[in-house]
Amino acid sequence: MRPDGNSIMNQQVTLTRHIIESEHANASAELGSLLNDVATACKKISNLVNRGAMAGVLGAAGSENIQGEDQKKLDIISNDVFIDCLQWGGHLAGMASEEMDSMYPIPENFARGKYLITFDPLDGSSNIDVNGAVGTIFSVMETADPNPADSSFLQPGTRQVCAGYCLYSSATMLVLTTGQGVDGFTLDNSVGEFVLTHPAITIPKTTNEFSINAAYQRHWFSPVKRYVDELLAGSTGPRKADFNMRWAGAMVGDVHRILSRGGIFMYPSDEKLAASGKSGKLRLLYEASPMAFIMEQAGGLASTGTERIMDIMPAELHQRVPVIMGSTEEVERVVSYHG
Ligand code: AHG
Ligand code: MN
Ligand code: MN
Repeated sequence: MRPDGNSIMNQQVTLTRHIIESEHANASAELGSLLNDVATACKKISNLVNRGAMAGVLGAAGSENIQGEDQKKLDIISNDVFIDCLQWGGHLAGMASEEMDSMYPIPENFARGKYLITFDPLDGSSNIDVNGAVGTIFSVMETADPNPADSSFLQPGTRQVCAGYCLYSSATMLVLTTGQGVDGFTLDNSVGEFVLTHPAITIPKTTNEFSINAAYQRHWFSPVKRYVDELLAGSTGPRKADFNMRWAGAMVGDVHRILSRGGIFMYPSDEKLAASGKSGKLRLLYEASPMAFIMEQAGGLASTGTERIMDIMPAELHQRVPVIMGSTEEVERVVSYHG
């Protein structure tokens, strides 16, 4: 060990060390400790995803969540992992998730703190049985109420103190923001730690890649139709450039790719969703809002087409919103088409 405390070995900055040493520490030791518990939950989910069929976690659970979607076994297991890892730490007053009808209050036998967390325990869960990329998304906000209710969670994205996602793919990566930029950590399975590998992530400003489920094209509203038509027209069209399309079917996978190499991710509302009374597919409080916080902190934008996602005042816990996020120039263009 050198006199300055550094070893001669190549040093890895772990998530814990990064939280303590960086500006993130200003966000409070309490938040740092909560983030460590989130990281533990993500490691456990990563392990289950990696072991797949051997862990006996694949397949359907035979139940539906409150949104009428079929639950996979791993949707429910991941939800339980989050509760197990977070409820005893003393940092939270309550949790809300895609897989729970209403909020989960911290049980009486545990200490309660000032934070609320919302999460999508397993995003893209239809990918799980085909060994595709899946993820976890989370968002942290504060509450003054030690006995929170669903209504305590109805805060705009601008009130988030932290947001992040974990991508379980060829590598497991945790990407997070506490409002001072975006950092990415890769899980080093040999020591069981998240290691800082992608400090200060910024999204490229221009791009030639877009991400949308084109199977819904016939249902799209005209601004989205116009935008995608222009991309598809390529170098001989109005954009005078060729574009490429990718769709992982897991928001975490698609957003991570776009954060890494630029692009635009869209899950817009459309005529079919509107006809069934839905204003989009993705949920505001644990999908759109945390991803919007990350996108903006990385220098990108996130909009519904007519409104900044971070500004939306939620009306209900499982509210859905249209999502258009990514590189500034492209999001601004789609927004301008919404006129
Ligand atoms: P979840 O598995 O948490 O319900 O989320 C799935 C979401 C999102 O991850 C993805 O972008 C989208 O659903 C895919 O929807 P389509 O099957 O309509 O393309
Ligand atoms: Mn999801
Ligand atoms: Mn999910």
